[in-house]
Amino acid sequence: MADLLIRDLVKRFGGFTAVDGVDISVGDGEFVFLLGPSGCGKTTTLRMIAGLEMPTGGRIEIGGRNVTYLRPRYRNVGMVFQDYGLYAHMTVFGNIAYPLKVRRMSRDVIAQKVRAVAQTMRIVDVLDRMPDQLAAGQLQRVAIARMLVRDADIFLMDEPMSHLDAQLRGHMRAELRHIQKEIGTTTIFVTHDQLEAMTMADRIIVMNDGKMLQFATPLEIFERPADEFVATFVGEPQMNVMNATLRRGEGGLVADVGAFVVPLDADWTRANALGDQEGKEVRLGIRPEHIRLAAVADALRPVEVELYSFEPTGPENIFVLRTGDVELTTRNPTAETVALARDEGSPMAIGFDPRWIYLFDAQTGRTIAQAAASVSEEELAA
Ligand SMILES: Nc1ncnc2c1ncn2[C@@H]1O[C@H](COP(=O)(O)OP(=O)(O)O)[C@@H](O)[C@H]1O
Ligand SMILES: [Mg+2]
Repeated sequence: MADLLIRDLVKRFGGFTAVDGVDISVGDGEFVFLLGPSGCGKTTTLRMIAGLEMPTGGRIEIGGRNVTYLRPRYRNVGMVFQDYGLYAHMTVFGNIAYPLKVRRMSRDVIAQKVRAVAQTMRIVDVLDRMPDQLAAGQLQRVAIARMLVRDADIFLMDEPMSHLDAQLRGHMRAELRHIQKEIGTTTIFVTHDQLEAMTMADRIIVMNDGKMLQFATPLEIFERPADEFVATFVGEPQMNVMNATLRRGEGGLVADVGAFVVPLDADWTRANALGDQEGKEVRLGIRPEHIRLAAVADALRPVEVELYSFEPTGPENIFVLRTGDVELTTRNPTAETVALARDEGSPMAIGFDPRWIYLFDAQTGRTIAQAAASVSEEELAA
């Protein structure tokens, strides 16, 4: 077991920069997720930690040891690849035993370790089978078992669940999280699936275009996103974001979207030090769950919208609404909105929760004002 320190890690392929300044400090036993869209540099980062790819610049330390340019076998790192990388000509037992055989362990010790890990991954009954006789879920378990069987300092996992169907994935999320905490080995898990990262991670590194945008807990990422990219990448359905201009209205500062005006809360404005921003062009963000819905007749200060489409999910109703050139998605408990599920084209009204509004810089995308989070600064720092 060990901690992991990465300083200003860079990887260029010719003139193309695939990883551009990843900088993290991961504590011993932490479960950290590398989250970002396809092609953003996740696998390349993981391969540099494993020693399968040499960095162009920067430094990697595992357990205080500089391993930046060490070959893989001197790093004591266990890895699960996206395509599993199992040996087709070996049984499941042979595959899991392989890393131990290479290390010249005795037959008895190998048999005992393989059994133990097969029990953890619940694949004892397929140990004698060949990989091509297994279903996707079992193949994935075997690949993880092969990683777990060694007492590695760090585990690295590259989208190990991408071949599983949705139901199996949901089940594996809980199981993997449990196993990681039980074994307690520092683990870096790569995924493009925000739900996977949000539900399993101790902390998440959000990446885009080779750059690290934020490194924080799931709740912090969700409530205090560093910029518009992070804000819209995390959360389902994604945060509504639209162009707006800040100006002085009747009751104080307002965000003028064109099709409608959003009054900004005075305390929120003060907390975000937005005093002198009149005329500023911004991007206004609001999550689907923070838009209230009503029939037009019930609304106090309604923004009138038209129902574009209605998607019941069971516990929640998702409404896609249109007004002018703005499209908004809302997500509300079914119990509160069941009476509003009407025909497409129906007029409806919405209200915004003024404490849950975000503003992003129109040029850089950086967050300039955010919701009063449910965790305090002190709690975040702890
Ligand atoms: N060996 C390589 N040679 C050239 N370009 C590469 C190589 N490996 C990865 N890349 C490029 O680097 C970028 C990041 O790739 P990768 O780390 O695999 O992304 P991710 O895992 O986030 O999908 C991609 O644009 C990819 O095409
Ligand atoms: Mg990848």
